[in-house]
Amino acid sequence: MAELKVFLRSFGCQMNLSDTERALGLLARQGYEPTDDADAADLLLVNTCAIREKAEDKLFSLLGEWRQIKQRRPGVIVAVMGCVAQEMKAEIRRRNPAVDVVVGTHNFHELGDLVEEVRETRSPITRIGQLRDAIPDDLPTVRDGKYHAWVPVIYGCSYFCSYCIVPFTRGPFQSRELEAIEREVIALLAEGFQEITLLGQTVDRYGLDLATPTTLAALLRRLSPLPGLNRIRFLTSHPVDLDEELVRTVAGLSNVMEYFHFPIQSGSDRMLDEMKRQHTVARYLEQVAMIRRHIPDAAISGDLIVGFPGETEADFEDTLRIVREVEFDSNNTAAYSIRPWTPAGKRTDQVPEDIKRDRLARLNEIVAETSFRRNRRLVGTWQEVLVEGPASRSPGIWTGRTRGNREVFFPGDPSLEGQIVQVKIDSARPFTLRGCVAGRLESRPSDIRPTIPPVVDLL
Ligand code: SAH
Ligand code: SF4
Ligand code: F3S
Repeated sequence: MAELKVFLRSFGCQMNLSDTERALGLLARQGYEPTDDADAADLLLVNTCAIREKAEDKLFSLLGEWRQIKQRRPGVIVAVMGCVAQEMKAEIRRRNPAVDVVVGTHNFHELGDLVEEVRETRSPITRIGQLRDAIPDDLPTVRDGKYHAWVPVIYGCSYFCSYCIVPFTRGPFQSRELEAIEREVIALLAEGFQEITLLGQTVDRYGLDLATPTTLAALLRRLSPLPGLNRIRFLTSHPVDLDEELVRTVAGLSNVMEYFHFPIQSGSDRMLDEMKRQHTVARYLEQVAMIRRHIPDAAISGDLIVGFPGETEADFEDTLRIVREVEFDSNNTAAYSIRPWTPAGKRTDQVPEDIKRDRLARLNEIVAETSFRRNRRLVGTWQEVLVEGPASRSPGIWTGRTRGNREVFFPGDPSLEGQIVQVKIDSARPFTLRGCVAGRLESRPSDIRPTIPPVVDLL
């Protein structure tokens, strides 16, 4: 039998990418192999993001294209999973009847069976579950990278920031058992992976909801000694949850990268309060100072929203000020977008689109300037880089990431791939670095950074 082909698009956050990898694993069991040619595919699958209206628009324009493919080849199956599936449910098929399968975030593990069912019956299915604990812990996975892997540790979010749809599309916090995570990481190491990123919407809340409560710090201490695990990252941190024990743990474990994705969202206390972020600017700054006290060269990135309802020019300028003051390494920025079910979406003091656009452009300039300044500071230094592969558009140039998650480009050859090397940085761009390779590290990276003794595991 000829192989079946799946063409896949994945929008949204790293958690979505991780779900996508599991969806591909499930489909592989049904005989589907990925293809990058939509016209050759038997199954067109999209994993969707609902964080902003624009992400939804992208989905429906993609489904429009796929509808045309289906008109040419009626046997093709179109499947939609992820946050928009969970949000819009049957509405997706009403807007585009070419869709055959709609499967929500809590039951995407059924995807393979649902696709099979549609192939047999040719009748569309919408399946939206409600509880994440239906998802088995050991789903097959087809990983995107060779050296780096995403590992979810806490699903969902119960914070209900007033602008955000995630608690509605992903359900409440739910930590995975520590042993299940450890098993997954050991299996990854056996396959040759060297770097993992532990994922959660508020990853530093990990473990509090387990029958035997634990913490992200304890998880890091448990994983860190595993042989072959050269790099551990985690994201996203939340100001309510990031604590000194975590930072001391990062400082003390040489294979945990000193990189914090730690969003503030706004530099105005009034906005933070209305966003229901549960912290002030002052508290955030104290946490940044605490991080830098323990790890002076820590990289700190974040996310920022402009044009939240009621945001004044003065509130916005507070955000510009905080970007300069913190001197972030990088920031994802977005104009506020009205989301269903959210309290902020119902407010009548929405900021006009043209003002949001203008503020976003001004913010992006400051973000780029700040990031450039941080990058220039690295010129002349040696940076430890895990070489990921050749740069896509520049022959002879290779790429990898520093411990602080900066992308670096340097002349190289295939023998470097998957190695941890020292790169001398010779020039900086706003968001990337250029350099050249000095030599390879024979040992674990512990010898290139002064370490603080690990704190005792109290749990
Ligand atoms: N859990 C993370 C964020 C996850 S969502 C945290 O709490 O920081 C990723 C980012 O999308 C958010 O940090 C926020 O900056 C942005 N975002 C979320 N809802 C949004 C909305 N309605 N409009 C614009 N940006 C939004
Ligand atoms: Fe959304 Fe807030 Fe939860 Fe982050 S913490 S996912 S912004 S509700
Ligand atoms: Fe988007 Fe869902 Fe992630 S809304 S950002 S894909 S959790």
